Formats: sequence, structure tokens, C-alpha cells
Amino acid sequence: MIASACDSSNDTVQPLSKKDAGSSGATDDGGKTDGAVVNTNTVCYRLGGFNKVQAIAGAVLKAVSADCRIGAYFTGLALTEQTHFTDCFSRQIGELTGCDGVTYAGSKDSLQIACRTLGDAHKAVDPQITDADFDAFVADVVSVMRQQGMSTADLTATLPKLNATRGDVSQTNDTTLAQSTCDAGGGDGGDASQDGGADTGSDTGVADADADDAG
Ligand code: HEM
Repeated sequence: MIASACDSSNDTVQPLSKKDAGSSGATDDGGKTDGAVVNTNTVCYRLGGFNKVQAIAGAVLKAVSADCRIGAYFTGLALTEQTHFTDCFSRQIGELTGCDGVTYAGSKDSLQIACRTLGDAHKAVDPQITDADFDAFVADVVSVMRQQGMSTADLTATLPKLNATRGDVSQTNDTTLAQSTCDAGGGDGGDASQDGGADTGSDTGVADADADDAG
């Protein structure tokens, strides 16, 4: 997952102290120790480091909670569950985007509760998460990532990794939203849901996401 720091390609390594590494210290960048080097050739680094990934995770929770398509899954979470979600989701995105020292498996939230496998975390979610729910969630994540400055190229690289979690997260191939409140006038569908409907395909691709924002 982590490119070798000795790699002779252009993944220049820099001292952790590089001011824009995005990590304010050893505790925030996923376990790197002081004086360690940072791989600057990662999506994570270009985003602004693990701190920025954590901000994205927080923004994702807000976005999905406000999304009438899937918000009902999240608005009922207790505060500790929200913390658990954002902490563990940060780890997940941190690994997917290549943050130095960040791995999901075996990680814990800030309350020292273990982050479960994605299969375990989602299998008992009630009602069952459908493919349409999954698509809505990923669309919201993409929207937040774009808002937070992820480039189109990095989004293109990251999206397949997000979509690869479908098998663990989605519990049914159902292409309808399990508990949408959109038709009840609740919520606004979130920034990612201008089309308002369930995306029944697997085309949560950046071809959609970046069409109106090439930069
Ligand atoms: C890219 C897709 C997704 C990823 C990477 C993801 C990741 C995560 C992670 C890391 C957790 C915390 C793990 C743990 O509890 O230990 C979590 C929990 C949760 N996720 Fe997801 N998730 C995804 C999609 C979804 C979708 C589509 C829904 C529903 C629409 C959903 C609903 C939930 C809920 C309700 C929890 C809390 C479960 C509980 O604590 O019992 N997730 N997710």
C-alpha cells in the first residue's frame, strides 16, 4: 500500500516537518513518528494529509445525514457512534488515499473501540443497505472530496477503490433506496444528488462527477 521511501521514481520524500504535509504532528498522521519521512506522491498528501482526510470524513457524515436518500441511516446514530463512524471512515479513506502509516485493519477509533471489517459493520444495518443506497453514499463522498479540493485525476484514482467496497457494504442488489425520505419533502438530497434519484448503475464515476468542474 505504501510506496517505498527508497523508490527512485518521483515519489519524493520530504521531512515530516514540511509545513504543508498536512499533518500537524505525530499523532495525527496515522502513527508516523517524529522525524519520519512523508511520501509526497499520494492522493492523501496532495489533499493535505491525514488531517484533511479526517475533515473529509466529518463532512461526509454531515452530507450523508442531510441526504434525504440515505440520511435515515445516519441521523439516528448516537454521538459515540458518529465519532466511531468518522474515526473509522477516516482510517478507511486514509488507507485508500495512501496516507503514510494509515491502515484500516486493526485500527481503533479515538475511544479505543475497534473499527470492524466493512462486512461486519454493515451486515446488521437495518434496513439492509441496497445498491442504490451504496451509490448515493459514494456520490456524496465524491461530492465532498471535490468540495475539499481533490483533483479530478485523484478522484479518478480513488473512486474505483471506494466502489470496490460495494460487496462488503451493500447487503442486497436491490436498486431502490431502502428508506428514502425524499418524496416526503425531507432533506435536500445533498450536494451530490442533483439528479434526485437512485442511481441504479455502478456508474458513480467521475465522468459524472467531474463533468462540470474540470479544475
Ligand atoms: C464506500 C462505502 C462505505 C464505506 C467505505 C463505509 C465505511 C464505514 C465504516 C468505516 C464504518 C465504521 C465501522 C465500524 O462500525 O467499526 C461504517 C459504519 C456504518 N456505515 Fe458505512 N460505509 C460505506 C457505505 C455505507 C452506506 C451506503 C451506508 C448506508 C446507506 C452506511 C451506513 C453505515 C452505518 C449505519 C454505520 C454504523 C454501523 C454501526 O455502528 O452499527 N455505510 N461505515
